[in-house]
Amino acid sequence: MSSSSESESESESDCGDEQRYRWYPFHVRFEVETGPPTSLDERREAQLEAHRFIQAKYDAGVPFITKDLLRDVVRQLEEDGNDTLSITGLNGVAVDYPIETGKENPHPMCGPGYICIMKKLVLEYRILERLLTVVDPKWFMPRRAYLPVKLSYIAEIRNRETDEVVSFAPPSDYATASRKFEQAKQSLEGSELFAQFKSTLASVTIPPGINKIVALGCSTMAWPNEARAMTSMTQHILALTIRDFLASGYATEAPGESRPEIKCYAQDPMYTPTDEQVLGEAGFTLVDDPRAFLEIDEASVVISVYPDIPVRQIVADIARPAVMIWNRPRDPDPEKTYTDPESPRVYRMLEEYIELPFPPDWSYEDIAIYVRKTTE
Ligand SMILES: C[S@@+](CC[C@H](N)C(=O)[O-])C[C@H]1O[C@@H](n2cnc3c(N)ncnc32)[C@H](O)[C@@H]1O
Repeated sequence: MSSSSESESESESDCGDEQRYRWYPFHVRFEVETGPPTSLDERREAQLEAHRFIQAKYDAGVPFITKDLLRDVVRQLEEDGNDTLSITGLNGVAVDYPIETGKENPHPMCGPGYICIMKKLVLEYRILERLLTVVDPKWFMPRRAYLPVKLSYIAEIRNRETDEVVSFAPPSDYATASRKFEQAKQSLEGSELFAQFKSTLASVTIPPGINKIVALGCSTMAWPNEARAMTSMTQHILALTIRDFLASGYATEAPGESRPEIKCYAQDPMYTPTDEQVLGEAGFTLVDDPRAFLEIDEASVVISVYPDIPVRQIVADIARPAVMIWNRPRDPDPEKTYTDPESPRVYRMLEEYIELPFPPDWSYEDIAIYVRKTTE
């Protein structure tokens, strides 16, 4: 790499053999920013300046992720023949990314026996902590430093010789997944736990006009590990239960409108064709990143349990949903990094909500139900 270019190559999971490629989404990107040669001191100063600028914008209440930004990303992705995506930074400067879905990525961790394909495009959401992370000035990319989102890809790793996919979910059997989903649905719907959950919701005034349930990061039901598959099923079934509960009379119409039909949207880059089929039959519309965020508004219920992306900070910037079911704020450990960290804006948003607990014997003690306070 020449002194006039900067690069960043990251993965979110270490991988050295086929076992490690299995299952958990593996993100890849490779970015190069070219420009005139600059000294380390100049880069250090540029980084400080970027951080000061970003903090000032945050303090002034400027939203970092906006629906206009996400809509523009979707528009560009859906444009026929478009192979470049332009993202405008918080400083007003646009940066172009080539759209590389389906291409091979020279990922250094892949090893000579494997190839890494950039399978699914996802956004990397760069919330406050991320934008303010201090990097070695050697790697500092002055133009990208201001971007609220960047492009990333979920990788598909293939054995170079056999072409066999060694990452992602192996194609799971639709008939089995569908049967298990139906069994889980019947058992949960009749359970004491779900009865308690519904009576908790019924104990407060639900904002009127709810017409959408948006589930993010509920994972795939195709995990070979039964417990993980069950967790994913439970979260999707919870979404359906809320829909049915609201439809049974708790969703009241907004003034001057008729009672809304309630739709269910779900987004998770791990979804397999089996998830698509089973969840589609159950009434979900599955959407690709970042489209679920565009569905979130004042008439929505958001469900997101331990997501890998900063759902709470994004939602705090884009909407005030009627109900959220997500992690309650925790005391952050400064030694750890979190995928969905709290922020001053998240705390301020939660002041507008009533926090309700999950049924006590539910294994989700970190999760709470937030219902927007009504003016009544
Ligand atoms: C730690 S897992 C939690 C899964 C599940 N909710 C649970 O409680 O076990 C995080 C989930 O976030 C999903 N995720 C990652 N990026 C996402 C995105 N852009 N949109 C929605 N979900 C995403 C991952 O695929 C994964 O299923």
